Amino acid sequence: MSGFPQFVYRNRALCAESVPLQQIAEEFGTPCYIYSRAALTQAYQAFNTAFSNRDHLICYAVKANSNIAILNLFARLGSGFDIVSGGELQRVIKAGGNPAKIVFSGVGKTAQEMRMALGIGILCFNVESEAELSALNRIAQEMGKIAPVSLRVNPDVDAKTHPYISTGLKENKFGVPADEAIRIYRSAHLYPHVSFTGLDCHIGSQLTELDPFVQASNKMLGLLDQLQAQGLTIHHLDLGGGLGIRYTNETPPSIQNYVAALCAQTAHAKQRLLIEPGRSLVGNAGILLTRVEYLKHTSARNFAIVDAAMNDLMRPSLYDAYHDILPVQTDGAAAQMYHVVGPVCETGDFLGHDRQLALQQGDLLAVMSAGAYGMSMSSNYNTRPRAAEVMVDGDTAHLIRQRETIDQLIATEQIPSEN
Ligand code: LLP
Repeated sequence: MSGFPQFVYRNRALCAESVPLQQIAEEFGTPCYIYSRAALTQAYQAFNTAFSNRDHLICYAVKANSNIAILNLFARLGSGFDIVSGGELQRVIKAGGNPAKIVFSGVGKTAQEMRMALGIGILCFNVESEAELSALNRIAQEMGKIAPVSLRVNPDVDAKTHPYISTGLKENKFGVPADEAIRIYRSAHLYPHVSFTGLDCHIGSQLTELDPFVQASNKMLGLLDQLQAQGLTIHHLDLGGGLGIRYTNETPPSIQNYVAALCAQTAHAKQRLLIEPGRSLVGNAGILLTRVEYLKHTSARNFAIVDAAMNDLMRPSLYDAYHDILPVQTDGAAAQMYHVVGPVCETGDFLGHDRQLALQQGDLLAVMSAGAYGMSMSSNYNTRPRAAEVMVDGDTAHLIRQRETIDQLIATEQIPSEN
């Protein structure tokens, strides 16, 4: 058993749906990201079904994995999108996403990005400061438009997750405090080219308990009541993303329980509910396939040096994150303890420490739960071309991103001419 329903062993060979990973390695090379279309679809459907008759919109957080094939799949399932840049907006449009289902988050939207989003006509800007609100109002005026806005409220709730991905505490850079939000909504007349249509929060990522979500939605409901008492009409309540997944022994709430809790909390509110899940839609639908280049046994430690590195999957180096690492062929040989490391020249370049694995040079390994914040956070450090990406659908493997070439990588650089 692999523990991941769409990545299972058949005849001792690890497969993505019905395709052996070995076959994908031979066809497309390594390192390579592989996604299961069935797993992506099932995760989306789990969210959608859990909302049942409640008016809702699932806005997939594009930053988790922005490949246009994945965006296109979600768009066809009816998903909306949460974007944080003009680049993500262009991806969503190219992938066939509906502009009327796009929310735009982020603390530092540029004038150019605002113009692009106003021109396309998105559902809502999640605004994070008064300065941003003024800028948006001015740009909307220049364009003769009214910008739909939610203020992102910082509910001051401890998400109890890694400090780098906790966003809902008052010391974080995100959102505006609740009392300030009331003052800003009340000063709507100062922003005639803005229409306050929603209310938004997001408290962090990889949350493994329901309680912080419940606390945050309670605060948002209290705020909603106050705004409505002042005569403001709020059409939607955006409760952000953040539901965690199981990487190893975490026990996050199920999608069903999470959505049920949000619906129960907000049962008396008439507003449409929006959520912005990223990781929980794509995280366990993807793996990173890598090949063992060398085994190195020292007196202190055994190293498996693989062809994927911190530039391909940053999470272990950046957050000390744990990803399961599974052998692609299991032949029953004796296992040893390994540090699984990449070729990058840093001790921080590792994919996993102290893993019990039976390995030979040339073996393939699958780094699990790599569908979210894997490829989308990859870089070209050490002038390493970025990996290929493949989407498996039943017994077919589709290439959804070609491996980058060195020529592509240096094509935009130039040497200044001498004068
Ligand atoms: N909405 C907003 C405003 C966000 O900032 C994020 C994630 C999401 C939604 C989606 O959160 P999710 O459902 O994926 O937890 N690179 C980190 C995660 C950073 C999350 C940033 N914001 C990691 O690899 O763990």
